[in-house]
Amino acid sequence: MFFHIKGGPGQVIVMVGLPARGKTYIAKKLTRYLNWIGVSTRVFNAGDYRRQAHVEMAKKPKHSFFDPNNAEASAIREACMEAALTDAMDFLRDGGGKVAIFDATNTTRERRKIVYDKIVNQNGLKCMFLESICNSDNIVESNVREVKVHSPDYKGVDAEEAISDFLERIKHYEDIYEPISEDSENHFAFIKIFNAGEKYVIHKHEGYLQSKIVYWIMNVHITPRTIYLTRHGESMYNVTNRIGGDSDLTSRGQHYSLALSYFFNQHVIPGLRVWTSWLKRTIQTAAHIQAPQERWRALNEIDAGDMENLTYDEIEEKFPEEFKARDQCKLTYRYPSGESYQDLVARLEPVMMELERQGNVLLVGHQAVLRCILGYFLDKPLEELPYIKVPLHTLIKLTPQAYGCEAEFIRFPIEANDTYRPKGSF
Ligand code: F6P
Repeated sequence: MFFHIKGGPGQVIVMVGLPARGKTYIAKKLTRYLNWIGVSTRVFNAGDYRRQAHVEMAKKPKHSFFDPNNAEASAIREACMEAALTDAMDFLRDGGGKVAIFDATNTTRERRKIVYDKIVNQNGLKCMFLESICNSDNIVESNVREVKVHSPDYKGVDAEEAISDFLERIKHYEDIYEPISEDSENHFAFIKIFNAGEKYVIHKHEGYLQSKIVYWIMNVHITPRTIYLTRHGESMYNVTNRIGGDSDLTSRGQHYSLALSYFFNQHVIPGLRVWTSWLKRTIQTAAHIQAPQERWRALNEIDAGDMENLTYDEIEEKFPEEFKARDQCKLTYRYPSGESYQDLVARLEPVMMELERQGNVLLVGHQAVLRCILGYFLDKPLEELPYIKVPLHTLIKLTPQAYGCEAEFIRFPIEANDTYRPKGSF
């Protein structure tokens, strides 16, 4: 099943917490996940609205701009928050959105009361608060050092100066911060995340989508790690442009398998785990790598149903209508008795959840499967997934960054057939 949340009110997820507590990180990552499972989601970040305001002092503000006693600045900040929240609700009402994430500090009870009232009572939408509480100096400091000093707020400012200004900014918020109260705010649905996942409090969440969000949040972590992705070595079917099936590797594919194992057995990658599908070509590719291996049936290639084991030319000749239909919408096209890319995303969801929990992983997969996985990590629109280039004999190294993921494509010098089909050729 793909996650079409039909009918029902849209939801606003309201972020809560002091600056540098990972709110934007969570908001962006949650957005990426929800869009990937087909739930149209967008972040509305109050800071972005402030930087776009036509007021010079709001674009690159000094910490005094965030002093609650600075009446002029408070009015500007208030107006920016209002604008972000209004746009968030418009997105749910008229923009086809299902979830809007309101990314602001919302640090006082009074503010949350106003926000809740607007969302639920005035607009009939659902609301869940998501509070990040972090009292680990290490996490806050590394966030300020690695992320905040690179914010547009500090463009052209010396790093040490930016850090000390940002720490002052945090103090202004600390002066007024009231964490969500389990007593006086107990009518709210909320999640509290302590120290980036050390502990959680889940309160009154309701419905299928909120449960999914809770489950996802409890699985993600921020420990640095690397995810390696590769397709299997060239298979017998790859050389003849035949799809599906369970063929063996060609001699060039076996060569890639050896080169890959050389790469991984030479570099010591702490705690590396290797995941493959149940199909021979991925198992043979990973065969010589010295690391614990797991087989996932959910990683098997897209099921081409009645067209399994045929070449693209044979499909065009025998099923011209199907050929045309797939070209028209490759994301949703479902092979007769088989799967679509959309089905594949739904099948891969538990794998991604587990991948989020893991440390260093090498995943040996297939063309369509890796397109879906890359789409998730690189935040690609769903319609683009079926056209992502994932060449054979190429190792993709994914390194999580502040708000996304860096992908490095390492091409091994071993020839392989090009199995890429541009739009217009099925
Ligand atoms: O050609 C190799 C292959 O993995 C096939 O088994 C699979 O059907 C195909 O790629 C998926 O790519 P596309 O969606 O572009 O046909």
